[in-house]
Amino acid sequence: MNIDVILGLQWGDEGKGKIVDYLADRYDMVARFQGGPNAGHTLVFDDKKYVLHTIPSGIFRKNLVNLIGNGVVIDPITFEKELINLQNASVDYSNRLFLSQKAHLILPTHRLLDAANEAAKGKSKIGSTLRGIGPTYMDRTGRNSLRVGDIHKDDFIERYEKLKQKHIAILTSLPQVDFDLKGEEKKWMDSLKTLRGIPQVNSEYFVNRAIRNGQRILAEGAQGSMLDVDFGTYPYVTSSNTITAGVCIGLGVSPDKIGEVIGITKAYCTRVGGGPFPTELFDATGEKLRKEGHEFGATTGRPRRCGWIDLPQLKYTIMLNGVTQLVLTKIDVLNSFDEVEVATSYQINGETTEEVPYEITDELQPNYISHKGWNQSLEGIKIFNQLPDTAQKYISELEKELQVPITMISTGPDRKELISRTVI
Ligand code: GDP
Ligand code: IMO
Ligand code: MG
Repeated sequence: MNIDVILGLQWGDEGKGKIVDYLADRYDMVARFQGGPNAGHTLVFDDKKYVLHTIPSGIFRKNLVNLIGNGVVIDPITFEKELINLQNASVDYSNRLFLSQKAHLILPTHRLLDAANEAAKGKSKIGSTLRGIGPTYMDRTGRNSLRVGDIHKDDFIERYEKLKQKHIAILTSLPQVDFDLKGEEKKWMDSLKTLRGIPQVNSEYFVNRAIRNGQRILAEGAQGSMLDVDFGTYPYVTSSNTITAGVCIGLGVSPDKIGEVIGITKAYCTRVGGGPFPTELFDATGEKLRKEGHEFGATTGRPRRCGWIDLPQLKYTIMLNGVTQLVLTKIDVLNSFDEVEVATSYQINGETTEEVPYEITDELQPNYISHKGWNQSLEGIKIFNQLPDTAQKYISELEKELQVPITMISTGPDRKELISRTVI
């Protein structure tokens, strides 16, 4: 069997957690391949809401194996908190949750560096979640990092100290920020006990063996393609490859093992943090999207910037990822809009283009077409043909433009609020 992939096609928060959780019972394993606690994946079922940061969104489905791959960066403190939440929800994760030995560790000083780096950037700050993601991936590339497999070694503390001192030396050239290093360090050291209790695996063998044995695997992306370190709106990006290619790097599977690529997009668009966002709305309509969509970050609680769906942007990320199926989420958020707009091309210095340029500046203005809204609730609708005509038309037009089938339409946060058009 090949590995299917679920990932976000915009700037994150597309509803990946919900869709992974919905699909998970068709799989034997869910594996995260990049990112870390900067992610916040929300799952809603049985009238309860759960937010996962590092743990894959398949954890609530019994008998399903969940793997945190080598491409993920792990903060033992957040990880422990997530495990406690699972215990409180009576989720038995023993023998179902595995950690790659090659996953890299986020140290308290990585978080401190993140904050100091942002302070140094001043107005042009990235708007990082301050979870230490950038500095940790830098140490990975710089070949300084500590990995999960190191925590059992005798010289672990020595190596920790060495890396910490390196960070402290860098910090002398950066603005001072408020951070209780001693306190955070104690929490970090204490949480290692929990980390040590989770089975570690040589994950590239673990995954490839499962593929060979015919197991069905779903790779769960974090962030979104427009936050990819190479192809996103650099430098306003995260520090990992969020696109399909990241699955190969972050799990150790070869490209020919990639199966379905399920790309998720909201029926509109959001972004949190700094950086360009061509269709962003600064008016009452943007405010209404934020209110109706409850657009506040699942990790930081920050208000998300809101705007209309952007077809050139989606065509770009569909191309980068090799998307074979689309999932449209949060369509219900548009229920009370008289008009729903769609950006179809960009105007840059008098020229019309459908290409995302090297840099998105204020020169770029989207061209829109307007669709009539449906002005009714979609509650309880489980079949595409039962959607209001205008909603069907909106979805069919998107599909025609994007040239990829929209196989699922999400109509609310709950696991059950979903229209499935075909079975994978
Ligand atoms: P992720 O990071 O991609 O997993 O997405 P988040 O969990 O950060 O943000 C998505 C938010 O939208 C969460 O609060 C979900 O509960 C919610 N959500 C997901 N799908 C839908 C939907 O179809 N309609 C509505 N109204 N909310 C949704
Ligand atoms: P999920 O998986 C939305 C954004 C941050 C910031 C930039 C860099 O829930 O979709 P970082 O902490 O990685 O240094 O931040 O990326 N960002 C996200 N935005 N959803 C996420 O994850 C994000 N993870 C990071 O807001 O702009
Ligand atoms: Mg999120």
